[in-house]
Amino acid sequence: MGRVFVARAITGDSLSRLREAGHEVDIWPGNLPPHPTELRDALSDADGLLSMLTERVDEKLLGAAPKLKVVANYAVGFDNVDLAATQARGIAVGVTPDVLTDATADLTFALLLAAARRLPEAQSAVRDGRWRTFEPQGWLGASVHGATIAIVGARGRIGSAVARRAQGFDMKVIPVNRGDDLHAALARADFVSLHTPLTDATRHLIDDAALHAIKPGAILVNTGRGPLVDQAALKRALEDGRLGAAALDVTDPEPLPPDDPLLSAPNIIILPHIGSATHHAREAMASMAVDNLLAGLAGEPLPYPAPTL
Ligand code: DGY
Repeated sequence: MGRVFVARAITGDSLSRLREAGHEVDIWPGNLPPHPTELRDALSDADGLLSMLTERVDEKLLGAAPKLKVVANYAVGFDNVDLAATQARGIAVGVTPDVLTDATADLTFALLLAAARRLPEAQSAVRDGRWRTFEPQGWLGASVHGATIAIVGARGRIGSAVARRAQGFDMKVIPVNRGDDLHAALARADFVSLHTPLTDATRHLIDDAALHAIKPGAILVNTGRGPLVDQAALKRALEDGRLGAAALDVTDPEPLPPDDPLLSAPNIIILPHIGSATHHAREAMASMAVDNLLAGLAGEPLPYPAPTL
């Protein structure tokens, strides 16, 4: 039977299925991820790894993990895993698709609405004692109903789920997929929402040029991956007032240091990567990760594999 290293405690009781199958389960204690050297030590005799997006699974790590057969990433994304390196070593990689789609699409809309209607500022006004009367000109925001939204990565699961929600608000959806004219879409949209995977081709997709192409006053929402956006360019666009607001669940790096310049930009909401953070989604992700581990440890094909290169 195998030894599985779990990079952080996870919710639910799915890990018990590994123990019931006779595997040894070693869970990293505490809420912070293991340092890369600690992770390498932990994997020296591990057959399976349950990783988070905080663990870089690269050649250096794999070189220190001679017995590793399977990596079950506790995420639908896999940009933290060097798939060329795992494939070269015959290590199976699994992910957790579908189960977090609705949770992430819901959070996308929560951010979109919060930015459009300026909820954080309005709430601060109440807490700070600045709510003195009904203000006929106070807290005016952008209309969501009937507005136009560009969904970048519209063919993907989460992009499609966001489009369904947008239809419920009678929004006009501009789907943007690979090969489409991004800048033309940005010029027409009141809201732009990012759902494309992070690859070399999509890193800094939203750069200075894109932020100049964007419709003045538009609102950018990112629940995909932080590096899709050039944050220095984003700060400039917010400061110039070219961009109306930005609402981010993901940043580059994560966590964003408390003194990061982006935090002093106007009209920005930043959350700590909580797109999939519902009890239901996280328990389902745990169950799928364990299914992937059980199959990989048994030398069987994974039920939820990462795409092959
Ligand atoms: C994912 O699954 O890729 C999310 O970013 C974290 O749940």
